[in-house]
Amino acid sequence: MVETKQGTLFFDGCDVTELARKYGTPLYVYSESVIESHFEELRRDFLDRWPGSRVAYAAKAFCTLGMCRLVRRAGLCIDVVSGGELHTALAAGFPPERIEFNGNNKLPQELELAISAGVGRIIVDGAGELERIERLCAAMDRRVAVLLRITPGVKADSHDYIVTGKKDSKFGFPLDEDVLYPAVKRAMDAPHVDFLGFHFHIGSQLFDRVPYIQATEAMLDVVGQVRERFGVTVSELNLGGGFGITYTDEERKPFRYYLDPMLERISARFDQWKEPRPAVVIEPGRSIVGDAGMTLYTVGEIKEIKGVRKYVCVDGGMSDNIRPALYQAVYRGVLANKMDAEDREQVTVCGKCCEAGDILVRDISLPPAERGDIFAQFCTGAYGYAMASNYNNNPVPAVVLVSRGRDELMVRRQSYDDIIRCQLIPRSLD
Ligand code: LLP
Repeated sequence: MVETKQGTLFFDGCDVTELARKYGTPLYVYSESVIESHFEELRRDFLDRWPGSRVAYAAKAFCTLGMCRLVRRAGLCIDVVSGGELHTALAAGFPPERIEFNGNNKLPQELELAISAGVGRIIVDGAGELERIERLCAAMDRRVAVLLRITPGVKADSHDYIVTGKKDSKFGFPLDEDVLYPAVKRAMDAPHVDFLGFHFHIGSQLFDRVPYIQATEAMLDVVGQVRERFGVTVSELNLGGGFGITYTDEERKPFRYYLDPMLERISARFDQWKEPRPAVVIEPGRSIVGDAGMTLYTVGEIKEIKGVRKYVCVDGGMSDNIRPALYQAVYRGVLANKMDAEDREQVTVCGKCCEAGDILVRDISLPPAERGDIFAQFCTGAYGYAMASNYNNNPVPAVVLVSRGRDELMVRRQSYDDIIRCQLIPRSLD
């Protein structure tokens, strides 16, 4: 979907320098064709091969009305983790029964909204939450289907901030006897709750399937225990998301690389028990939208510190992509209007926020940059717009959806007035 024509970068059939001119920069650009290709792989290699399976797109990676529509059109489910994401999905017309509600410390008003909307699943994060769900459902005279999130006690290899499967985690139920099984019993006995099974999510941007397999084994052991203790075999297992993508030179692996060995173990165990195979759900976020997005910036000041470094400053930065500053994430990028020029200079592309750590790409080879060039940073589709802020009161950039040469606005750029929209001047300061 990324190609060069006459020295210019094209994304899903659109000249990105034209997009920069038309919509201004910084600009997030998403390719519908790339998103569709990931949906297609999931359909072919997972959904069509495992009856009853579901993909619940993890909205946190990029949650906008337009994205919810793409997921809805694909017939998939969506995983939300806050009242805000839930509201976005509902406002996009997402069928509530295809919404799964995840996250730790769900607020009372969020649970109420989820239950009254009739979400398909609530992934319960702890014993207290289970009780609160029971009480709310009873008071509202509603039923809800739940899974219990377990922390399987595996260590996945990624940035410390985004690994979640180890025992010392704020997420889920630890596999402790006296915590987990009483909660299972409680969920099974609760009159307004349908207990369906278990969930895990071990981390994000993972390339090794071993921790997934270990987590699956741990989950199956729990399923076995529940059979033995309570005579019930669960009907649904959710394996979370976390599948890694290529930012620089990591090798993106097909979904089957992770899923096949997990599905194999699940079928083996359920076949051995002579029980019907459970529904299996996954929650990919980054692997759906990560490489479907790029960010366009305009080059401004260029500052050479002799013998040290050359800074190429662009018109955005950590306010539209916090990942390099927060996780030391490394990206690739190009000068979109100079694709045929030789990468002759090593430079550091930095943003315009007032922080020394506001670096977008350190030590990148580019053609000699000039004011007005368009710098395209690749693979910013996941957790870029989603984690954007108004730091320095920079407006959040616009988002454009491109598809085979067509471009359409998905989110308009914030104005300066948008930034102060919720602000009031206290009467005492009049
Ligand atoms: N399911 C659950 C319960 C999750 O917590 C997450 C991500 C996902 C699914 C989706 O994971 P993915 O497929 O996108 O890796 N802001 C960080 C990533 C945080 C991920 C949090 N949870 C980053 O920019 O790298």
